[in-house]
Amino acid sequence: MMNAGCQTAPFSTGIATQSAPGKLILCGEHAVVYGQPAIALPLADIRAYARLTVGVPGSGLRLYAPDLGREWIVDASSDDPLGELALTTLHALNAPHIDLVLTLSATIPIASGMGSGAAIATAMVRALADWAGQSLSPAEVSALVYASEQRYHGTPSGIDNTVIAYEQPLWFVRRTTAEQQIVADIEPITIAQPFTLVIGDTGIRSATRLPVGDVRRRWQANPDYYEDLFMQVGELTRAVRVALATGDLVGLGPLLNANQALLEVIGVSSPELERLVVAARSAGATGAKLSGAGWGGVMLALTDSADSQSAVTTALRKAGAVRVLETTVAATSGREA
Ligand code: MEV
Repeated sequence: MMNAGCQTAPFSTGIATQSAPGKLILCGEHAVVYGQPAIALPLADIRAYARLTVGVPGSGLRLYAPDLGREWIVDASSDDPLGELALTTLHALNAPHIDLVLTLSATIPIASGMGSGAAIATAMVRALADWAGQSLSPAEVSALVYASEQRYHGTPSGIDNTVIAYEQPLWFVRRTTAEQQIVADIEPITIAQPFTLVIGDTGIRSATRLPVGDVRRRWQANPDYYEDLFMQVGELTRAVRVALATGDLVGLGPLLNANQALLEVIGVSSPELERLVVAARSAGATGAKLSGAGWGGVMLALTDSADSQSAVTTALRKAGAVRVLETTVAATSGREA
């Protein structure tokens, strides 16, 4: 299935360098695991990188993550998500797994809700395909990374690997088919007016699978209550899509605030996140919410002017954000429902 790409310099001895963006969930996290829609945005300027070189003969397949101070030899029998994904990718590419060094790095803060894990995995898959002289479609890259995320990260919806592989603002709905297969319906969305988000990082690292697993346990104990909350999030997400498509940025802020209120009830917020959310709103953000799995990681704030961006940035730092980033989401024309 994956050998149809251009065949330039297969298995060349040279270097392949590839990258992948971070991501933000604008609206709909957690509810998306239960079949509700969510909207995700790629972060083009915050990226993960994979650089592939050919190692000395006999050195095997090695992964090197200087940011983490880690270097290891991939062993088919070890419980190592990235190593296993590298081997699966080489197998899918019909490529030999010999004496390669993959150096992995990222400017995306780790375990912060910005997709660092899926972005590193995506960059690595792309670098291997590049080295093998094959081009994988976004769907193929996304499927490889999703299989790995599923094995190691509980019950992910697939939204992170999808928006990272497609690199465009997406509407994402996860669905189980009659044959019990999980599929995702994705659509590029229309953004009629560009807007700027200020991102505040609590500095608290939280693995996605922990809050996702906690929500699952509570949903299992009280399904009707949680299904109702997820449906309310789904309604908000539909309204966010309309606001984006019509350029209604005034309407967008309160929808993000309402999503934050539901995430608090669902149980994935935290005092640190709420401190940043409140600080951003007090400084003039028209909407603010946590983004991603929660319990730690980042929140986002919608701003409507350069003045409010700088006031929100200052307020977030004062309220304890360890990092403040800004991203402007460009206008795009997608497919509208
Ligand atoms: C994580 O970025 C988004 C969650 O909804 C988990 C998932 O969809 O897999 C919390």
